[in-house]
Amino acid sequence: MPDHPQQINVIGASGGIGQAMVAAVLDRYPGARIAATHHRSEVPFEHERVDWQRLDLRDPGAIEAWSSDFERVDWMLNCAGYLHGEAGGPEKNIRSLEAEFLLENIRVNTLPTLLLARHFAAALKKSSAPVLATVSARVGSIEDNRLGGWYSYRISKAALNMALKTLSIEWKHSHPRGCVAALHPGTNDTRLSKPFQARVSAQNLFDPDYSATRFVNLLTQLDSSQSGNFWAWDGTRLPW
Ligand SMILES: NC(=O)c1ccc[n+]([C@@H]2O[C@H](COP(=O)([O-])OP(=O)(O)OC[C@H]3O[C@@H](n4cnc5c(N)ncnc54)[C@H](OP(=O)(O)O)[C@@H]3O)[C@@H](O)[C@H]2O)c1
Repeated sequence: MPDHPQQINVIGASGGIGQAMVAAVLDRYPGARIAATHHRSEVPFEHERVDWQRLDLRDPGAIEAWSSDFERVDWMLNCAGYLHGEAGGPEKNIRSLEAEFLLENIRVNTLPTLLLARHFAAALKKSSAPVLATVSARVGSIEDNRLGGWYSYRISKAALNMALKTLSIEWKHSHPRGCVAALHPGTNDTRLSKPFQARVSAQNLFDPDYSATRFVNLLTQLDSSQSGNFWAWDGTRLPW
């Protein structure tokens, strides 16, 4: 059995799923320190084992600078994401596609995981069982796309999935004890999903604490032999 993680970094920890992820790892690993990032939101809560950092993930230099604070990291959990905001919202059809909104989706949903992998590779290599997991979304699955629409978000999550798969192949050699994972949380009741909850039944709208606890259970069980997969909150594997 690998050692328990001692240093866990949660990115996007001011969000609905991120906050729940911090709570879940605090509860599961009483010996762990958590480094948690927020961006526009204020620090949502204080805890003696949580170190907060304001970080704009669209700034590659800021990601690199933050990485220099760490000698060793066991788990990197990226829970940040973007679906709607000042640059727009998900497209119903191709006529609504705007370049700036697509690029903002890529900047927040795709690129940061690659930059985090690049700048934290050395710190993760010092772990006996490093994990890099990013919250993706089922709508990023090409095979599962039946409804269409939501071009920018789907594209950014499909590209994120490709990034994670590609990284998992490289890290089989450089980080042989490591596990890279894409995660789908189901529909969670958060700021991100609020405008799109009307057609979601109550039983399919999860409290983020539920998904985060299921993710931590899953990540605790995964090892390097399962690196490079796309997992739903309940532990089922999703098609890419
Ligand atoms: N909720 C769902 O139903 C659902 C379903 C499928 C997938 N997901 C995915 O789950 C992840 C978490 O979503 P959520 O529902 O928890 O959303 P949320 O409550 O809106 O949280 C989003 C998080 O991302 C951070 N963030 C956004 N832009 C950032 C930037 N430029 N730099 C740094 N941080 C940034 C936010 O930080 P600040 O608030 O501090 O600015 C916040 O911590 C996302 O990747 C989302 O795509 C969610």
